Amino acid sequence: MDRGDVLSGAAFSAVLRSAFVFIFVLVIFGWITLAYVERSLIAELGDDVQQRWSILATDHENQGHEHVDRTVASLANLAAGGHHAVALFGADQGRIAGNILSRPAGTGLQVGPLEHAAASPDDLTRDYVYVSGPLDDSTLVVGQRLDLLYHTQILVFRALTLSGFLVVLTMLSVGYYLSAKSLRRLRDIEFALSQTSEGDTEVRITENGGTTQIDRIARQMNLHLDRLSRMIATTRNTAAAAAHDLKSPLGRAYLSLGKAMEQVEAGQDPVEAMADTQDELENMRVIFDAYLSLSRIEAAGDVHLTDRVDLAELVADLAETFALIAEDEGQSLSFDVGDDAELTVAGDAQMLQQMVVNLLQNAVNHGSAGNVTRVTLSRSGADIRLSVADTGPGIPEASRERVFEPFHRLDPSRSKPGAGLGLALVRAIAEKHSGRIVLRDNDPGLVVEVTLPAPSGSA
Ligand SMILES: Nc1ncnc2c1ncn2[C@@H]1O[C@H](COP(=O)(O)OP(=O)(O)OP(=O)(O)O)[C@@H](O)[C@H]1O
Ligand SMILES: [Mg+2]
Repeated sequence: MDRGDVLSGAAFSAVLRSAFVFIFVLVIFGWITLAYVERSLIAELGDDVQQRWSILATDHENQGHEHVDRTVASLANLAAGGHHAVALFGADQGRIAGNILSRPAGTGLQVGPLEHAAASPDDLTRDYVYVSGPLDDSTLVVGQRLDLLYHTQILVFRALTLSGFLVVLTMLSVGYYLSAKSLRRLRDIEFALSQTSEGDTEVRITENGGTTQIDRIARQMNLHLDRLSRMIATTRNTAAAAAHDLKSPLGRAYLSLGKAMEQVEAGQDPVEAMADTQDELENMRVIFDAYLSLSRIEAAGDVHLTDRVDLAELVADLAETFALIAEDEGQSLSFDVGDDAELTVAGDAQMLQQMVVNLLQNAVNHGSAGNVTRVTLSRSGADIRLSVADTGPGIPEASRERVFEPFHRLDPSRSKPGAGLGLALVRAIAEKHSGRIVLRDNDPGLVVEVTLPAPSGSA
């Protein structure tokens, strides 16, 4: 995987931005902490030197000048390392005793460099917190070097830098890992799309059951690819089936026309052969009409779905007509359209009529003598349900999706009339009206159930 791609990934960029913010916050936090440590330690050390100065001042008051001179001298000897500073200066600024070489300017509590007798170039600092004040005509200076402060500051600084470095390193590693992971998923998607664009309709993005945005997109894309491959397969099947179904009437029309021409040449009457040709062409026209009508319905928007169609009336009228046809075929067809609930839908009256006709035609055409068809229309909550149940041959479970494909027919001998477009039309019309269609077993026979939404506001 290209490292540049991983580093420019959204996850890594987000983590990188967060790392910058973290460093900025850490610097401010560190600066405040160091300032706080400095203030507190200087205040504490200041109290300490002030106390020591006061003890010596009390000694001076109680035991006299010479006693303090000696104490300062011995204290100065004790503090050989340069951490502690103590000295007594005379009125002429000269050092009487102690380890500070020259008297610092100013009096009171001070922070600054002192010239210590034991100063070494290796010392961390020359800065002291010290108190300088008069004892009669001399000046007593007591100080404490700021090593502790600087040591503490260095420690705090190191601790913050190290923890900051570790946190940033962890963040960047996690960001790199996440970015590499998303990139792998994106590569999967890219691969699937490029394979699809090259005509492979089987390829899918691997799903890992995750819940990230990329996982959700992958799932959606797989659904989309499923639909796309179904559509491609349907289009291929439809084209093949259409060619197959049109080939026979075309062949028969060609033969009848040839026969008519031979009859003309032989001086015989060609009317019958020409009528056969016309019938075959009429069959083809019906198929084309139905297919065009299906295409138009599938392509149409919602513009015409404004009629208020009383389905009870429409179904009752058509069922009455088909009851007569069924009777001629030795079958029976009854209907129950209910009368208490309002069974009106918003839609296109012509399309809805075409839908019901196709369903009744199927029940009668595909059933044989003795077939009993029952048509019911009812209201269930916000749905209006039309059910056409027959006791004919039914449709096996495995074929219940395929019969909706244009030109798909179950009867291999093509003994029943029809082009295989009826159910495709019915589904297209139902979906155009925001409805759905399901096929179920009637044991024996088939139940076709179309559910359409009732217009809102009607009960
Ligand atoms: N009520 C039914 N009982 C048994 N089989 C059916 C029934 N309805 C449809 N089928 C099967 O489903 C196939 C597709 O039906 P569809 O209505 O799409 O086409 P068709 O009836 O063959 O032709 P068309 O409706 O275009 O005249 C039919 O050929 C038939 O095999
Ligand atoms: Mg049909």
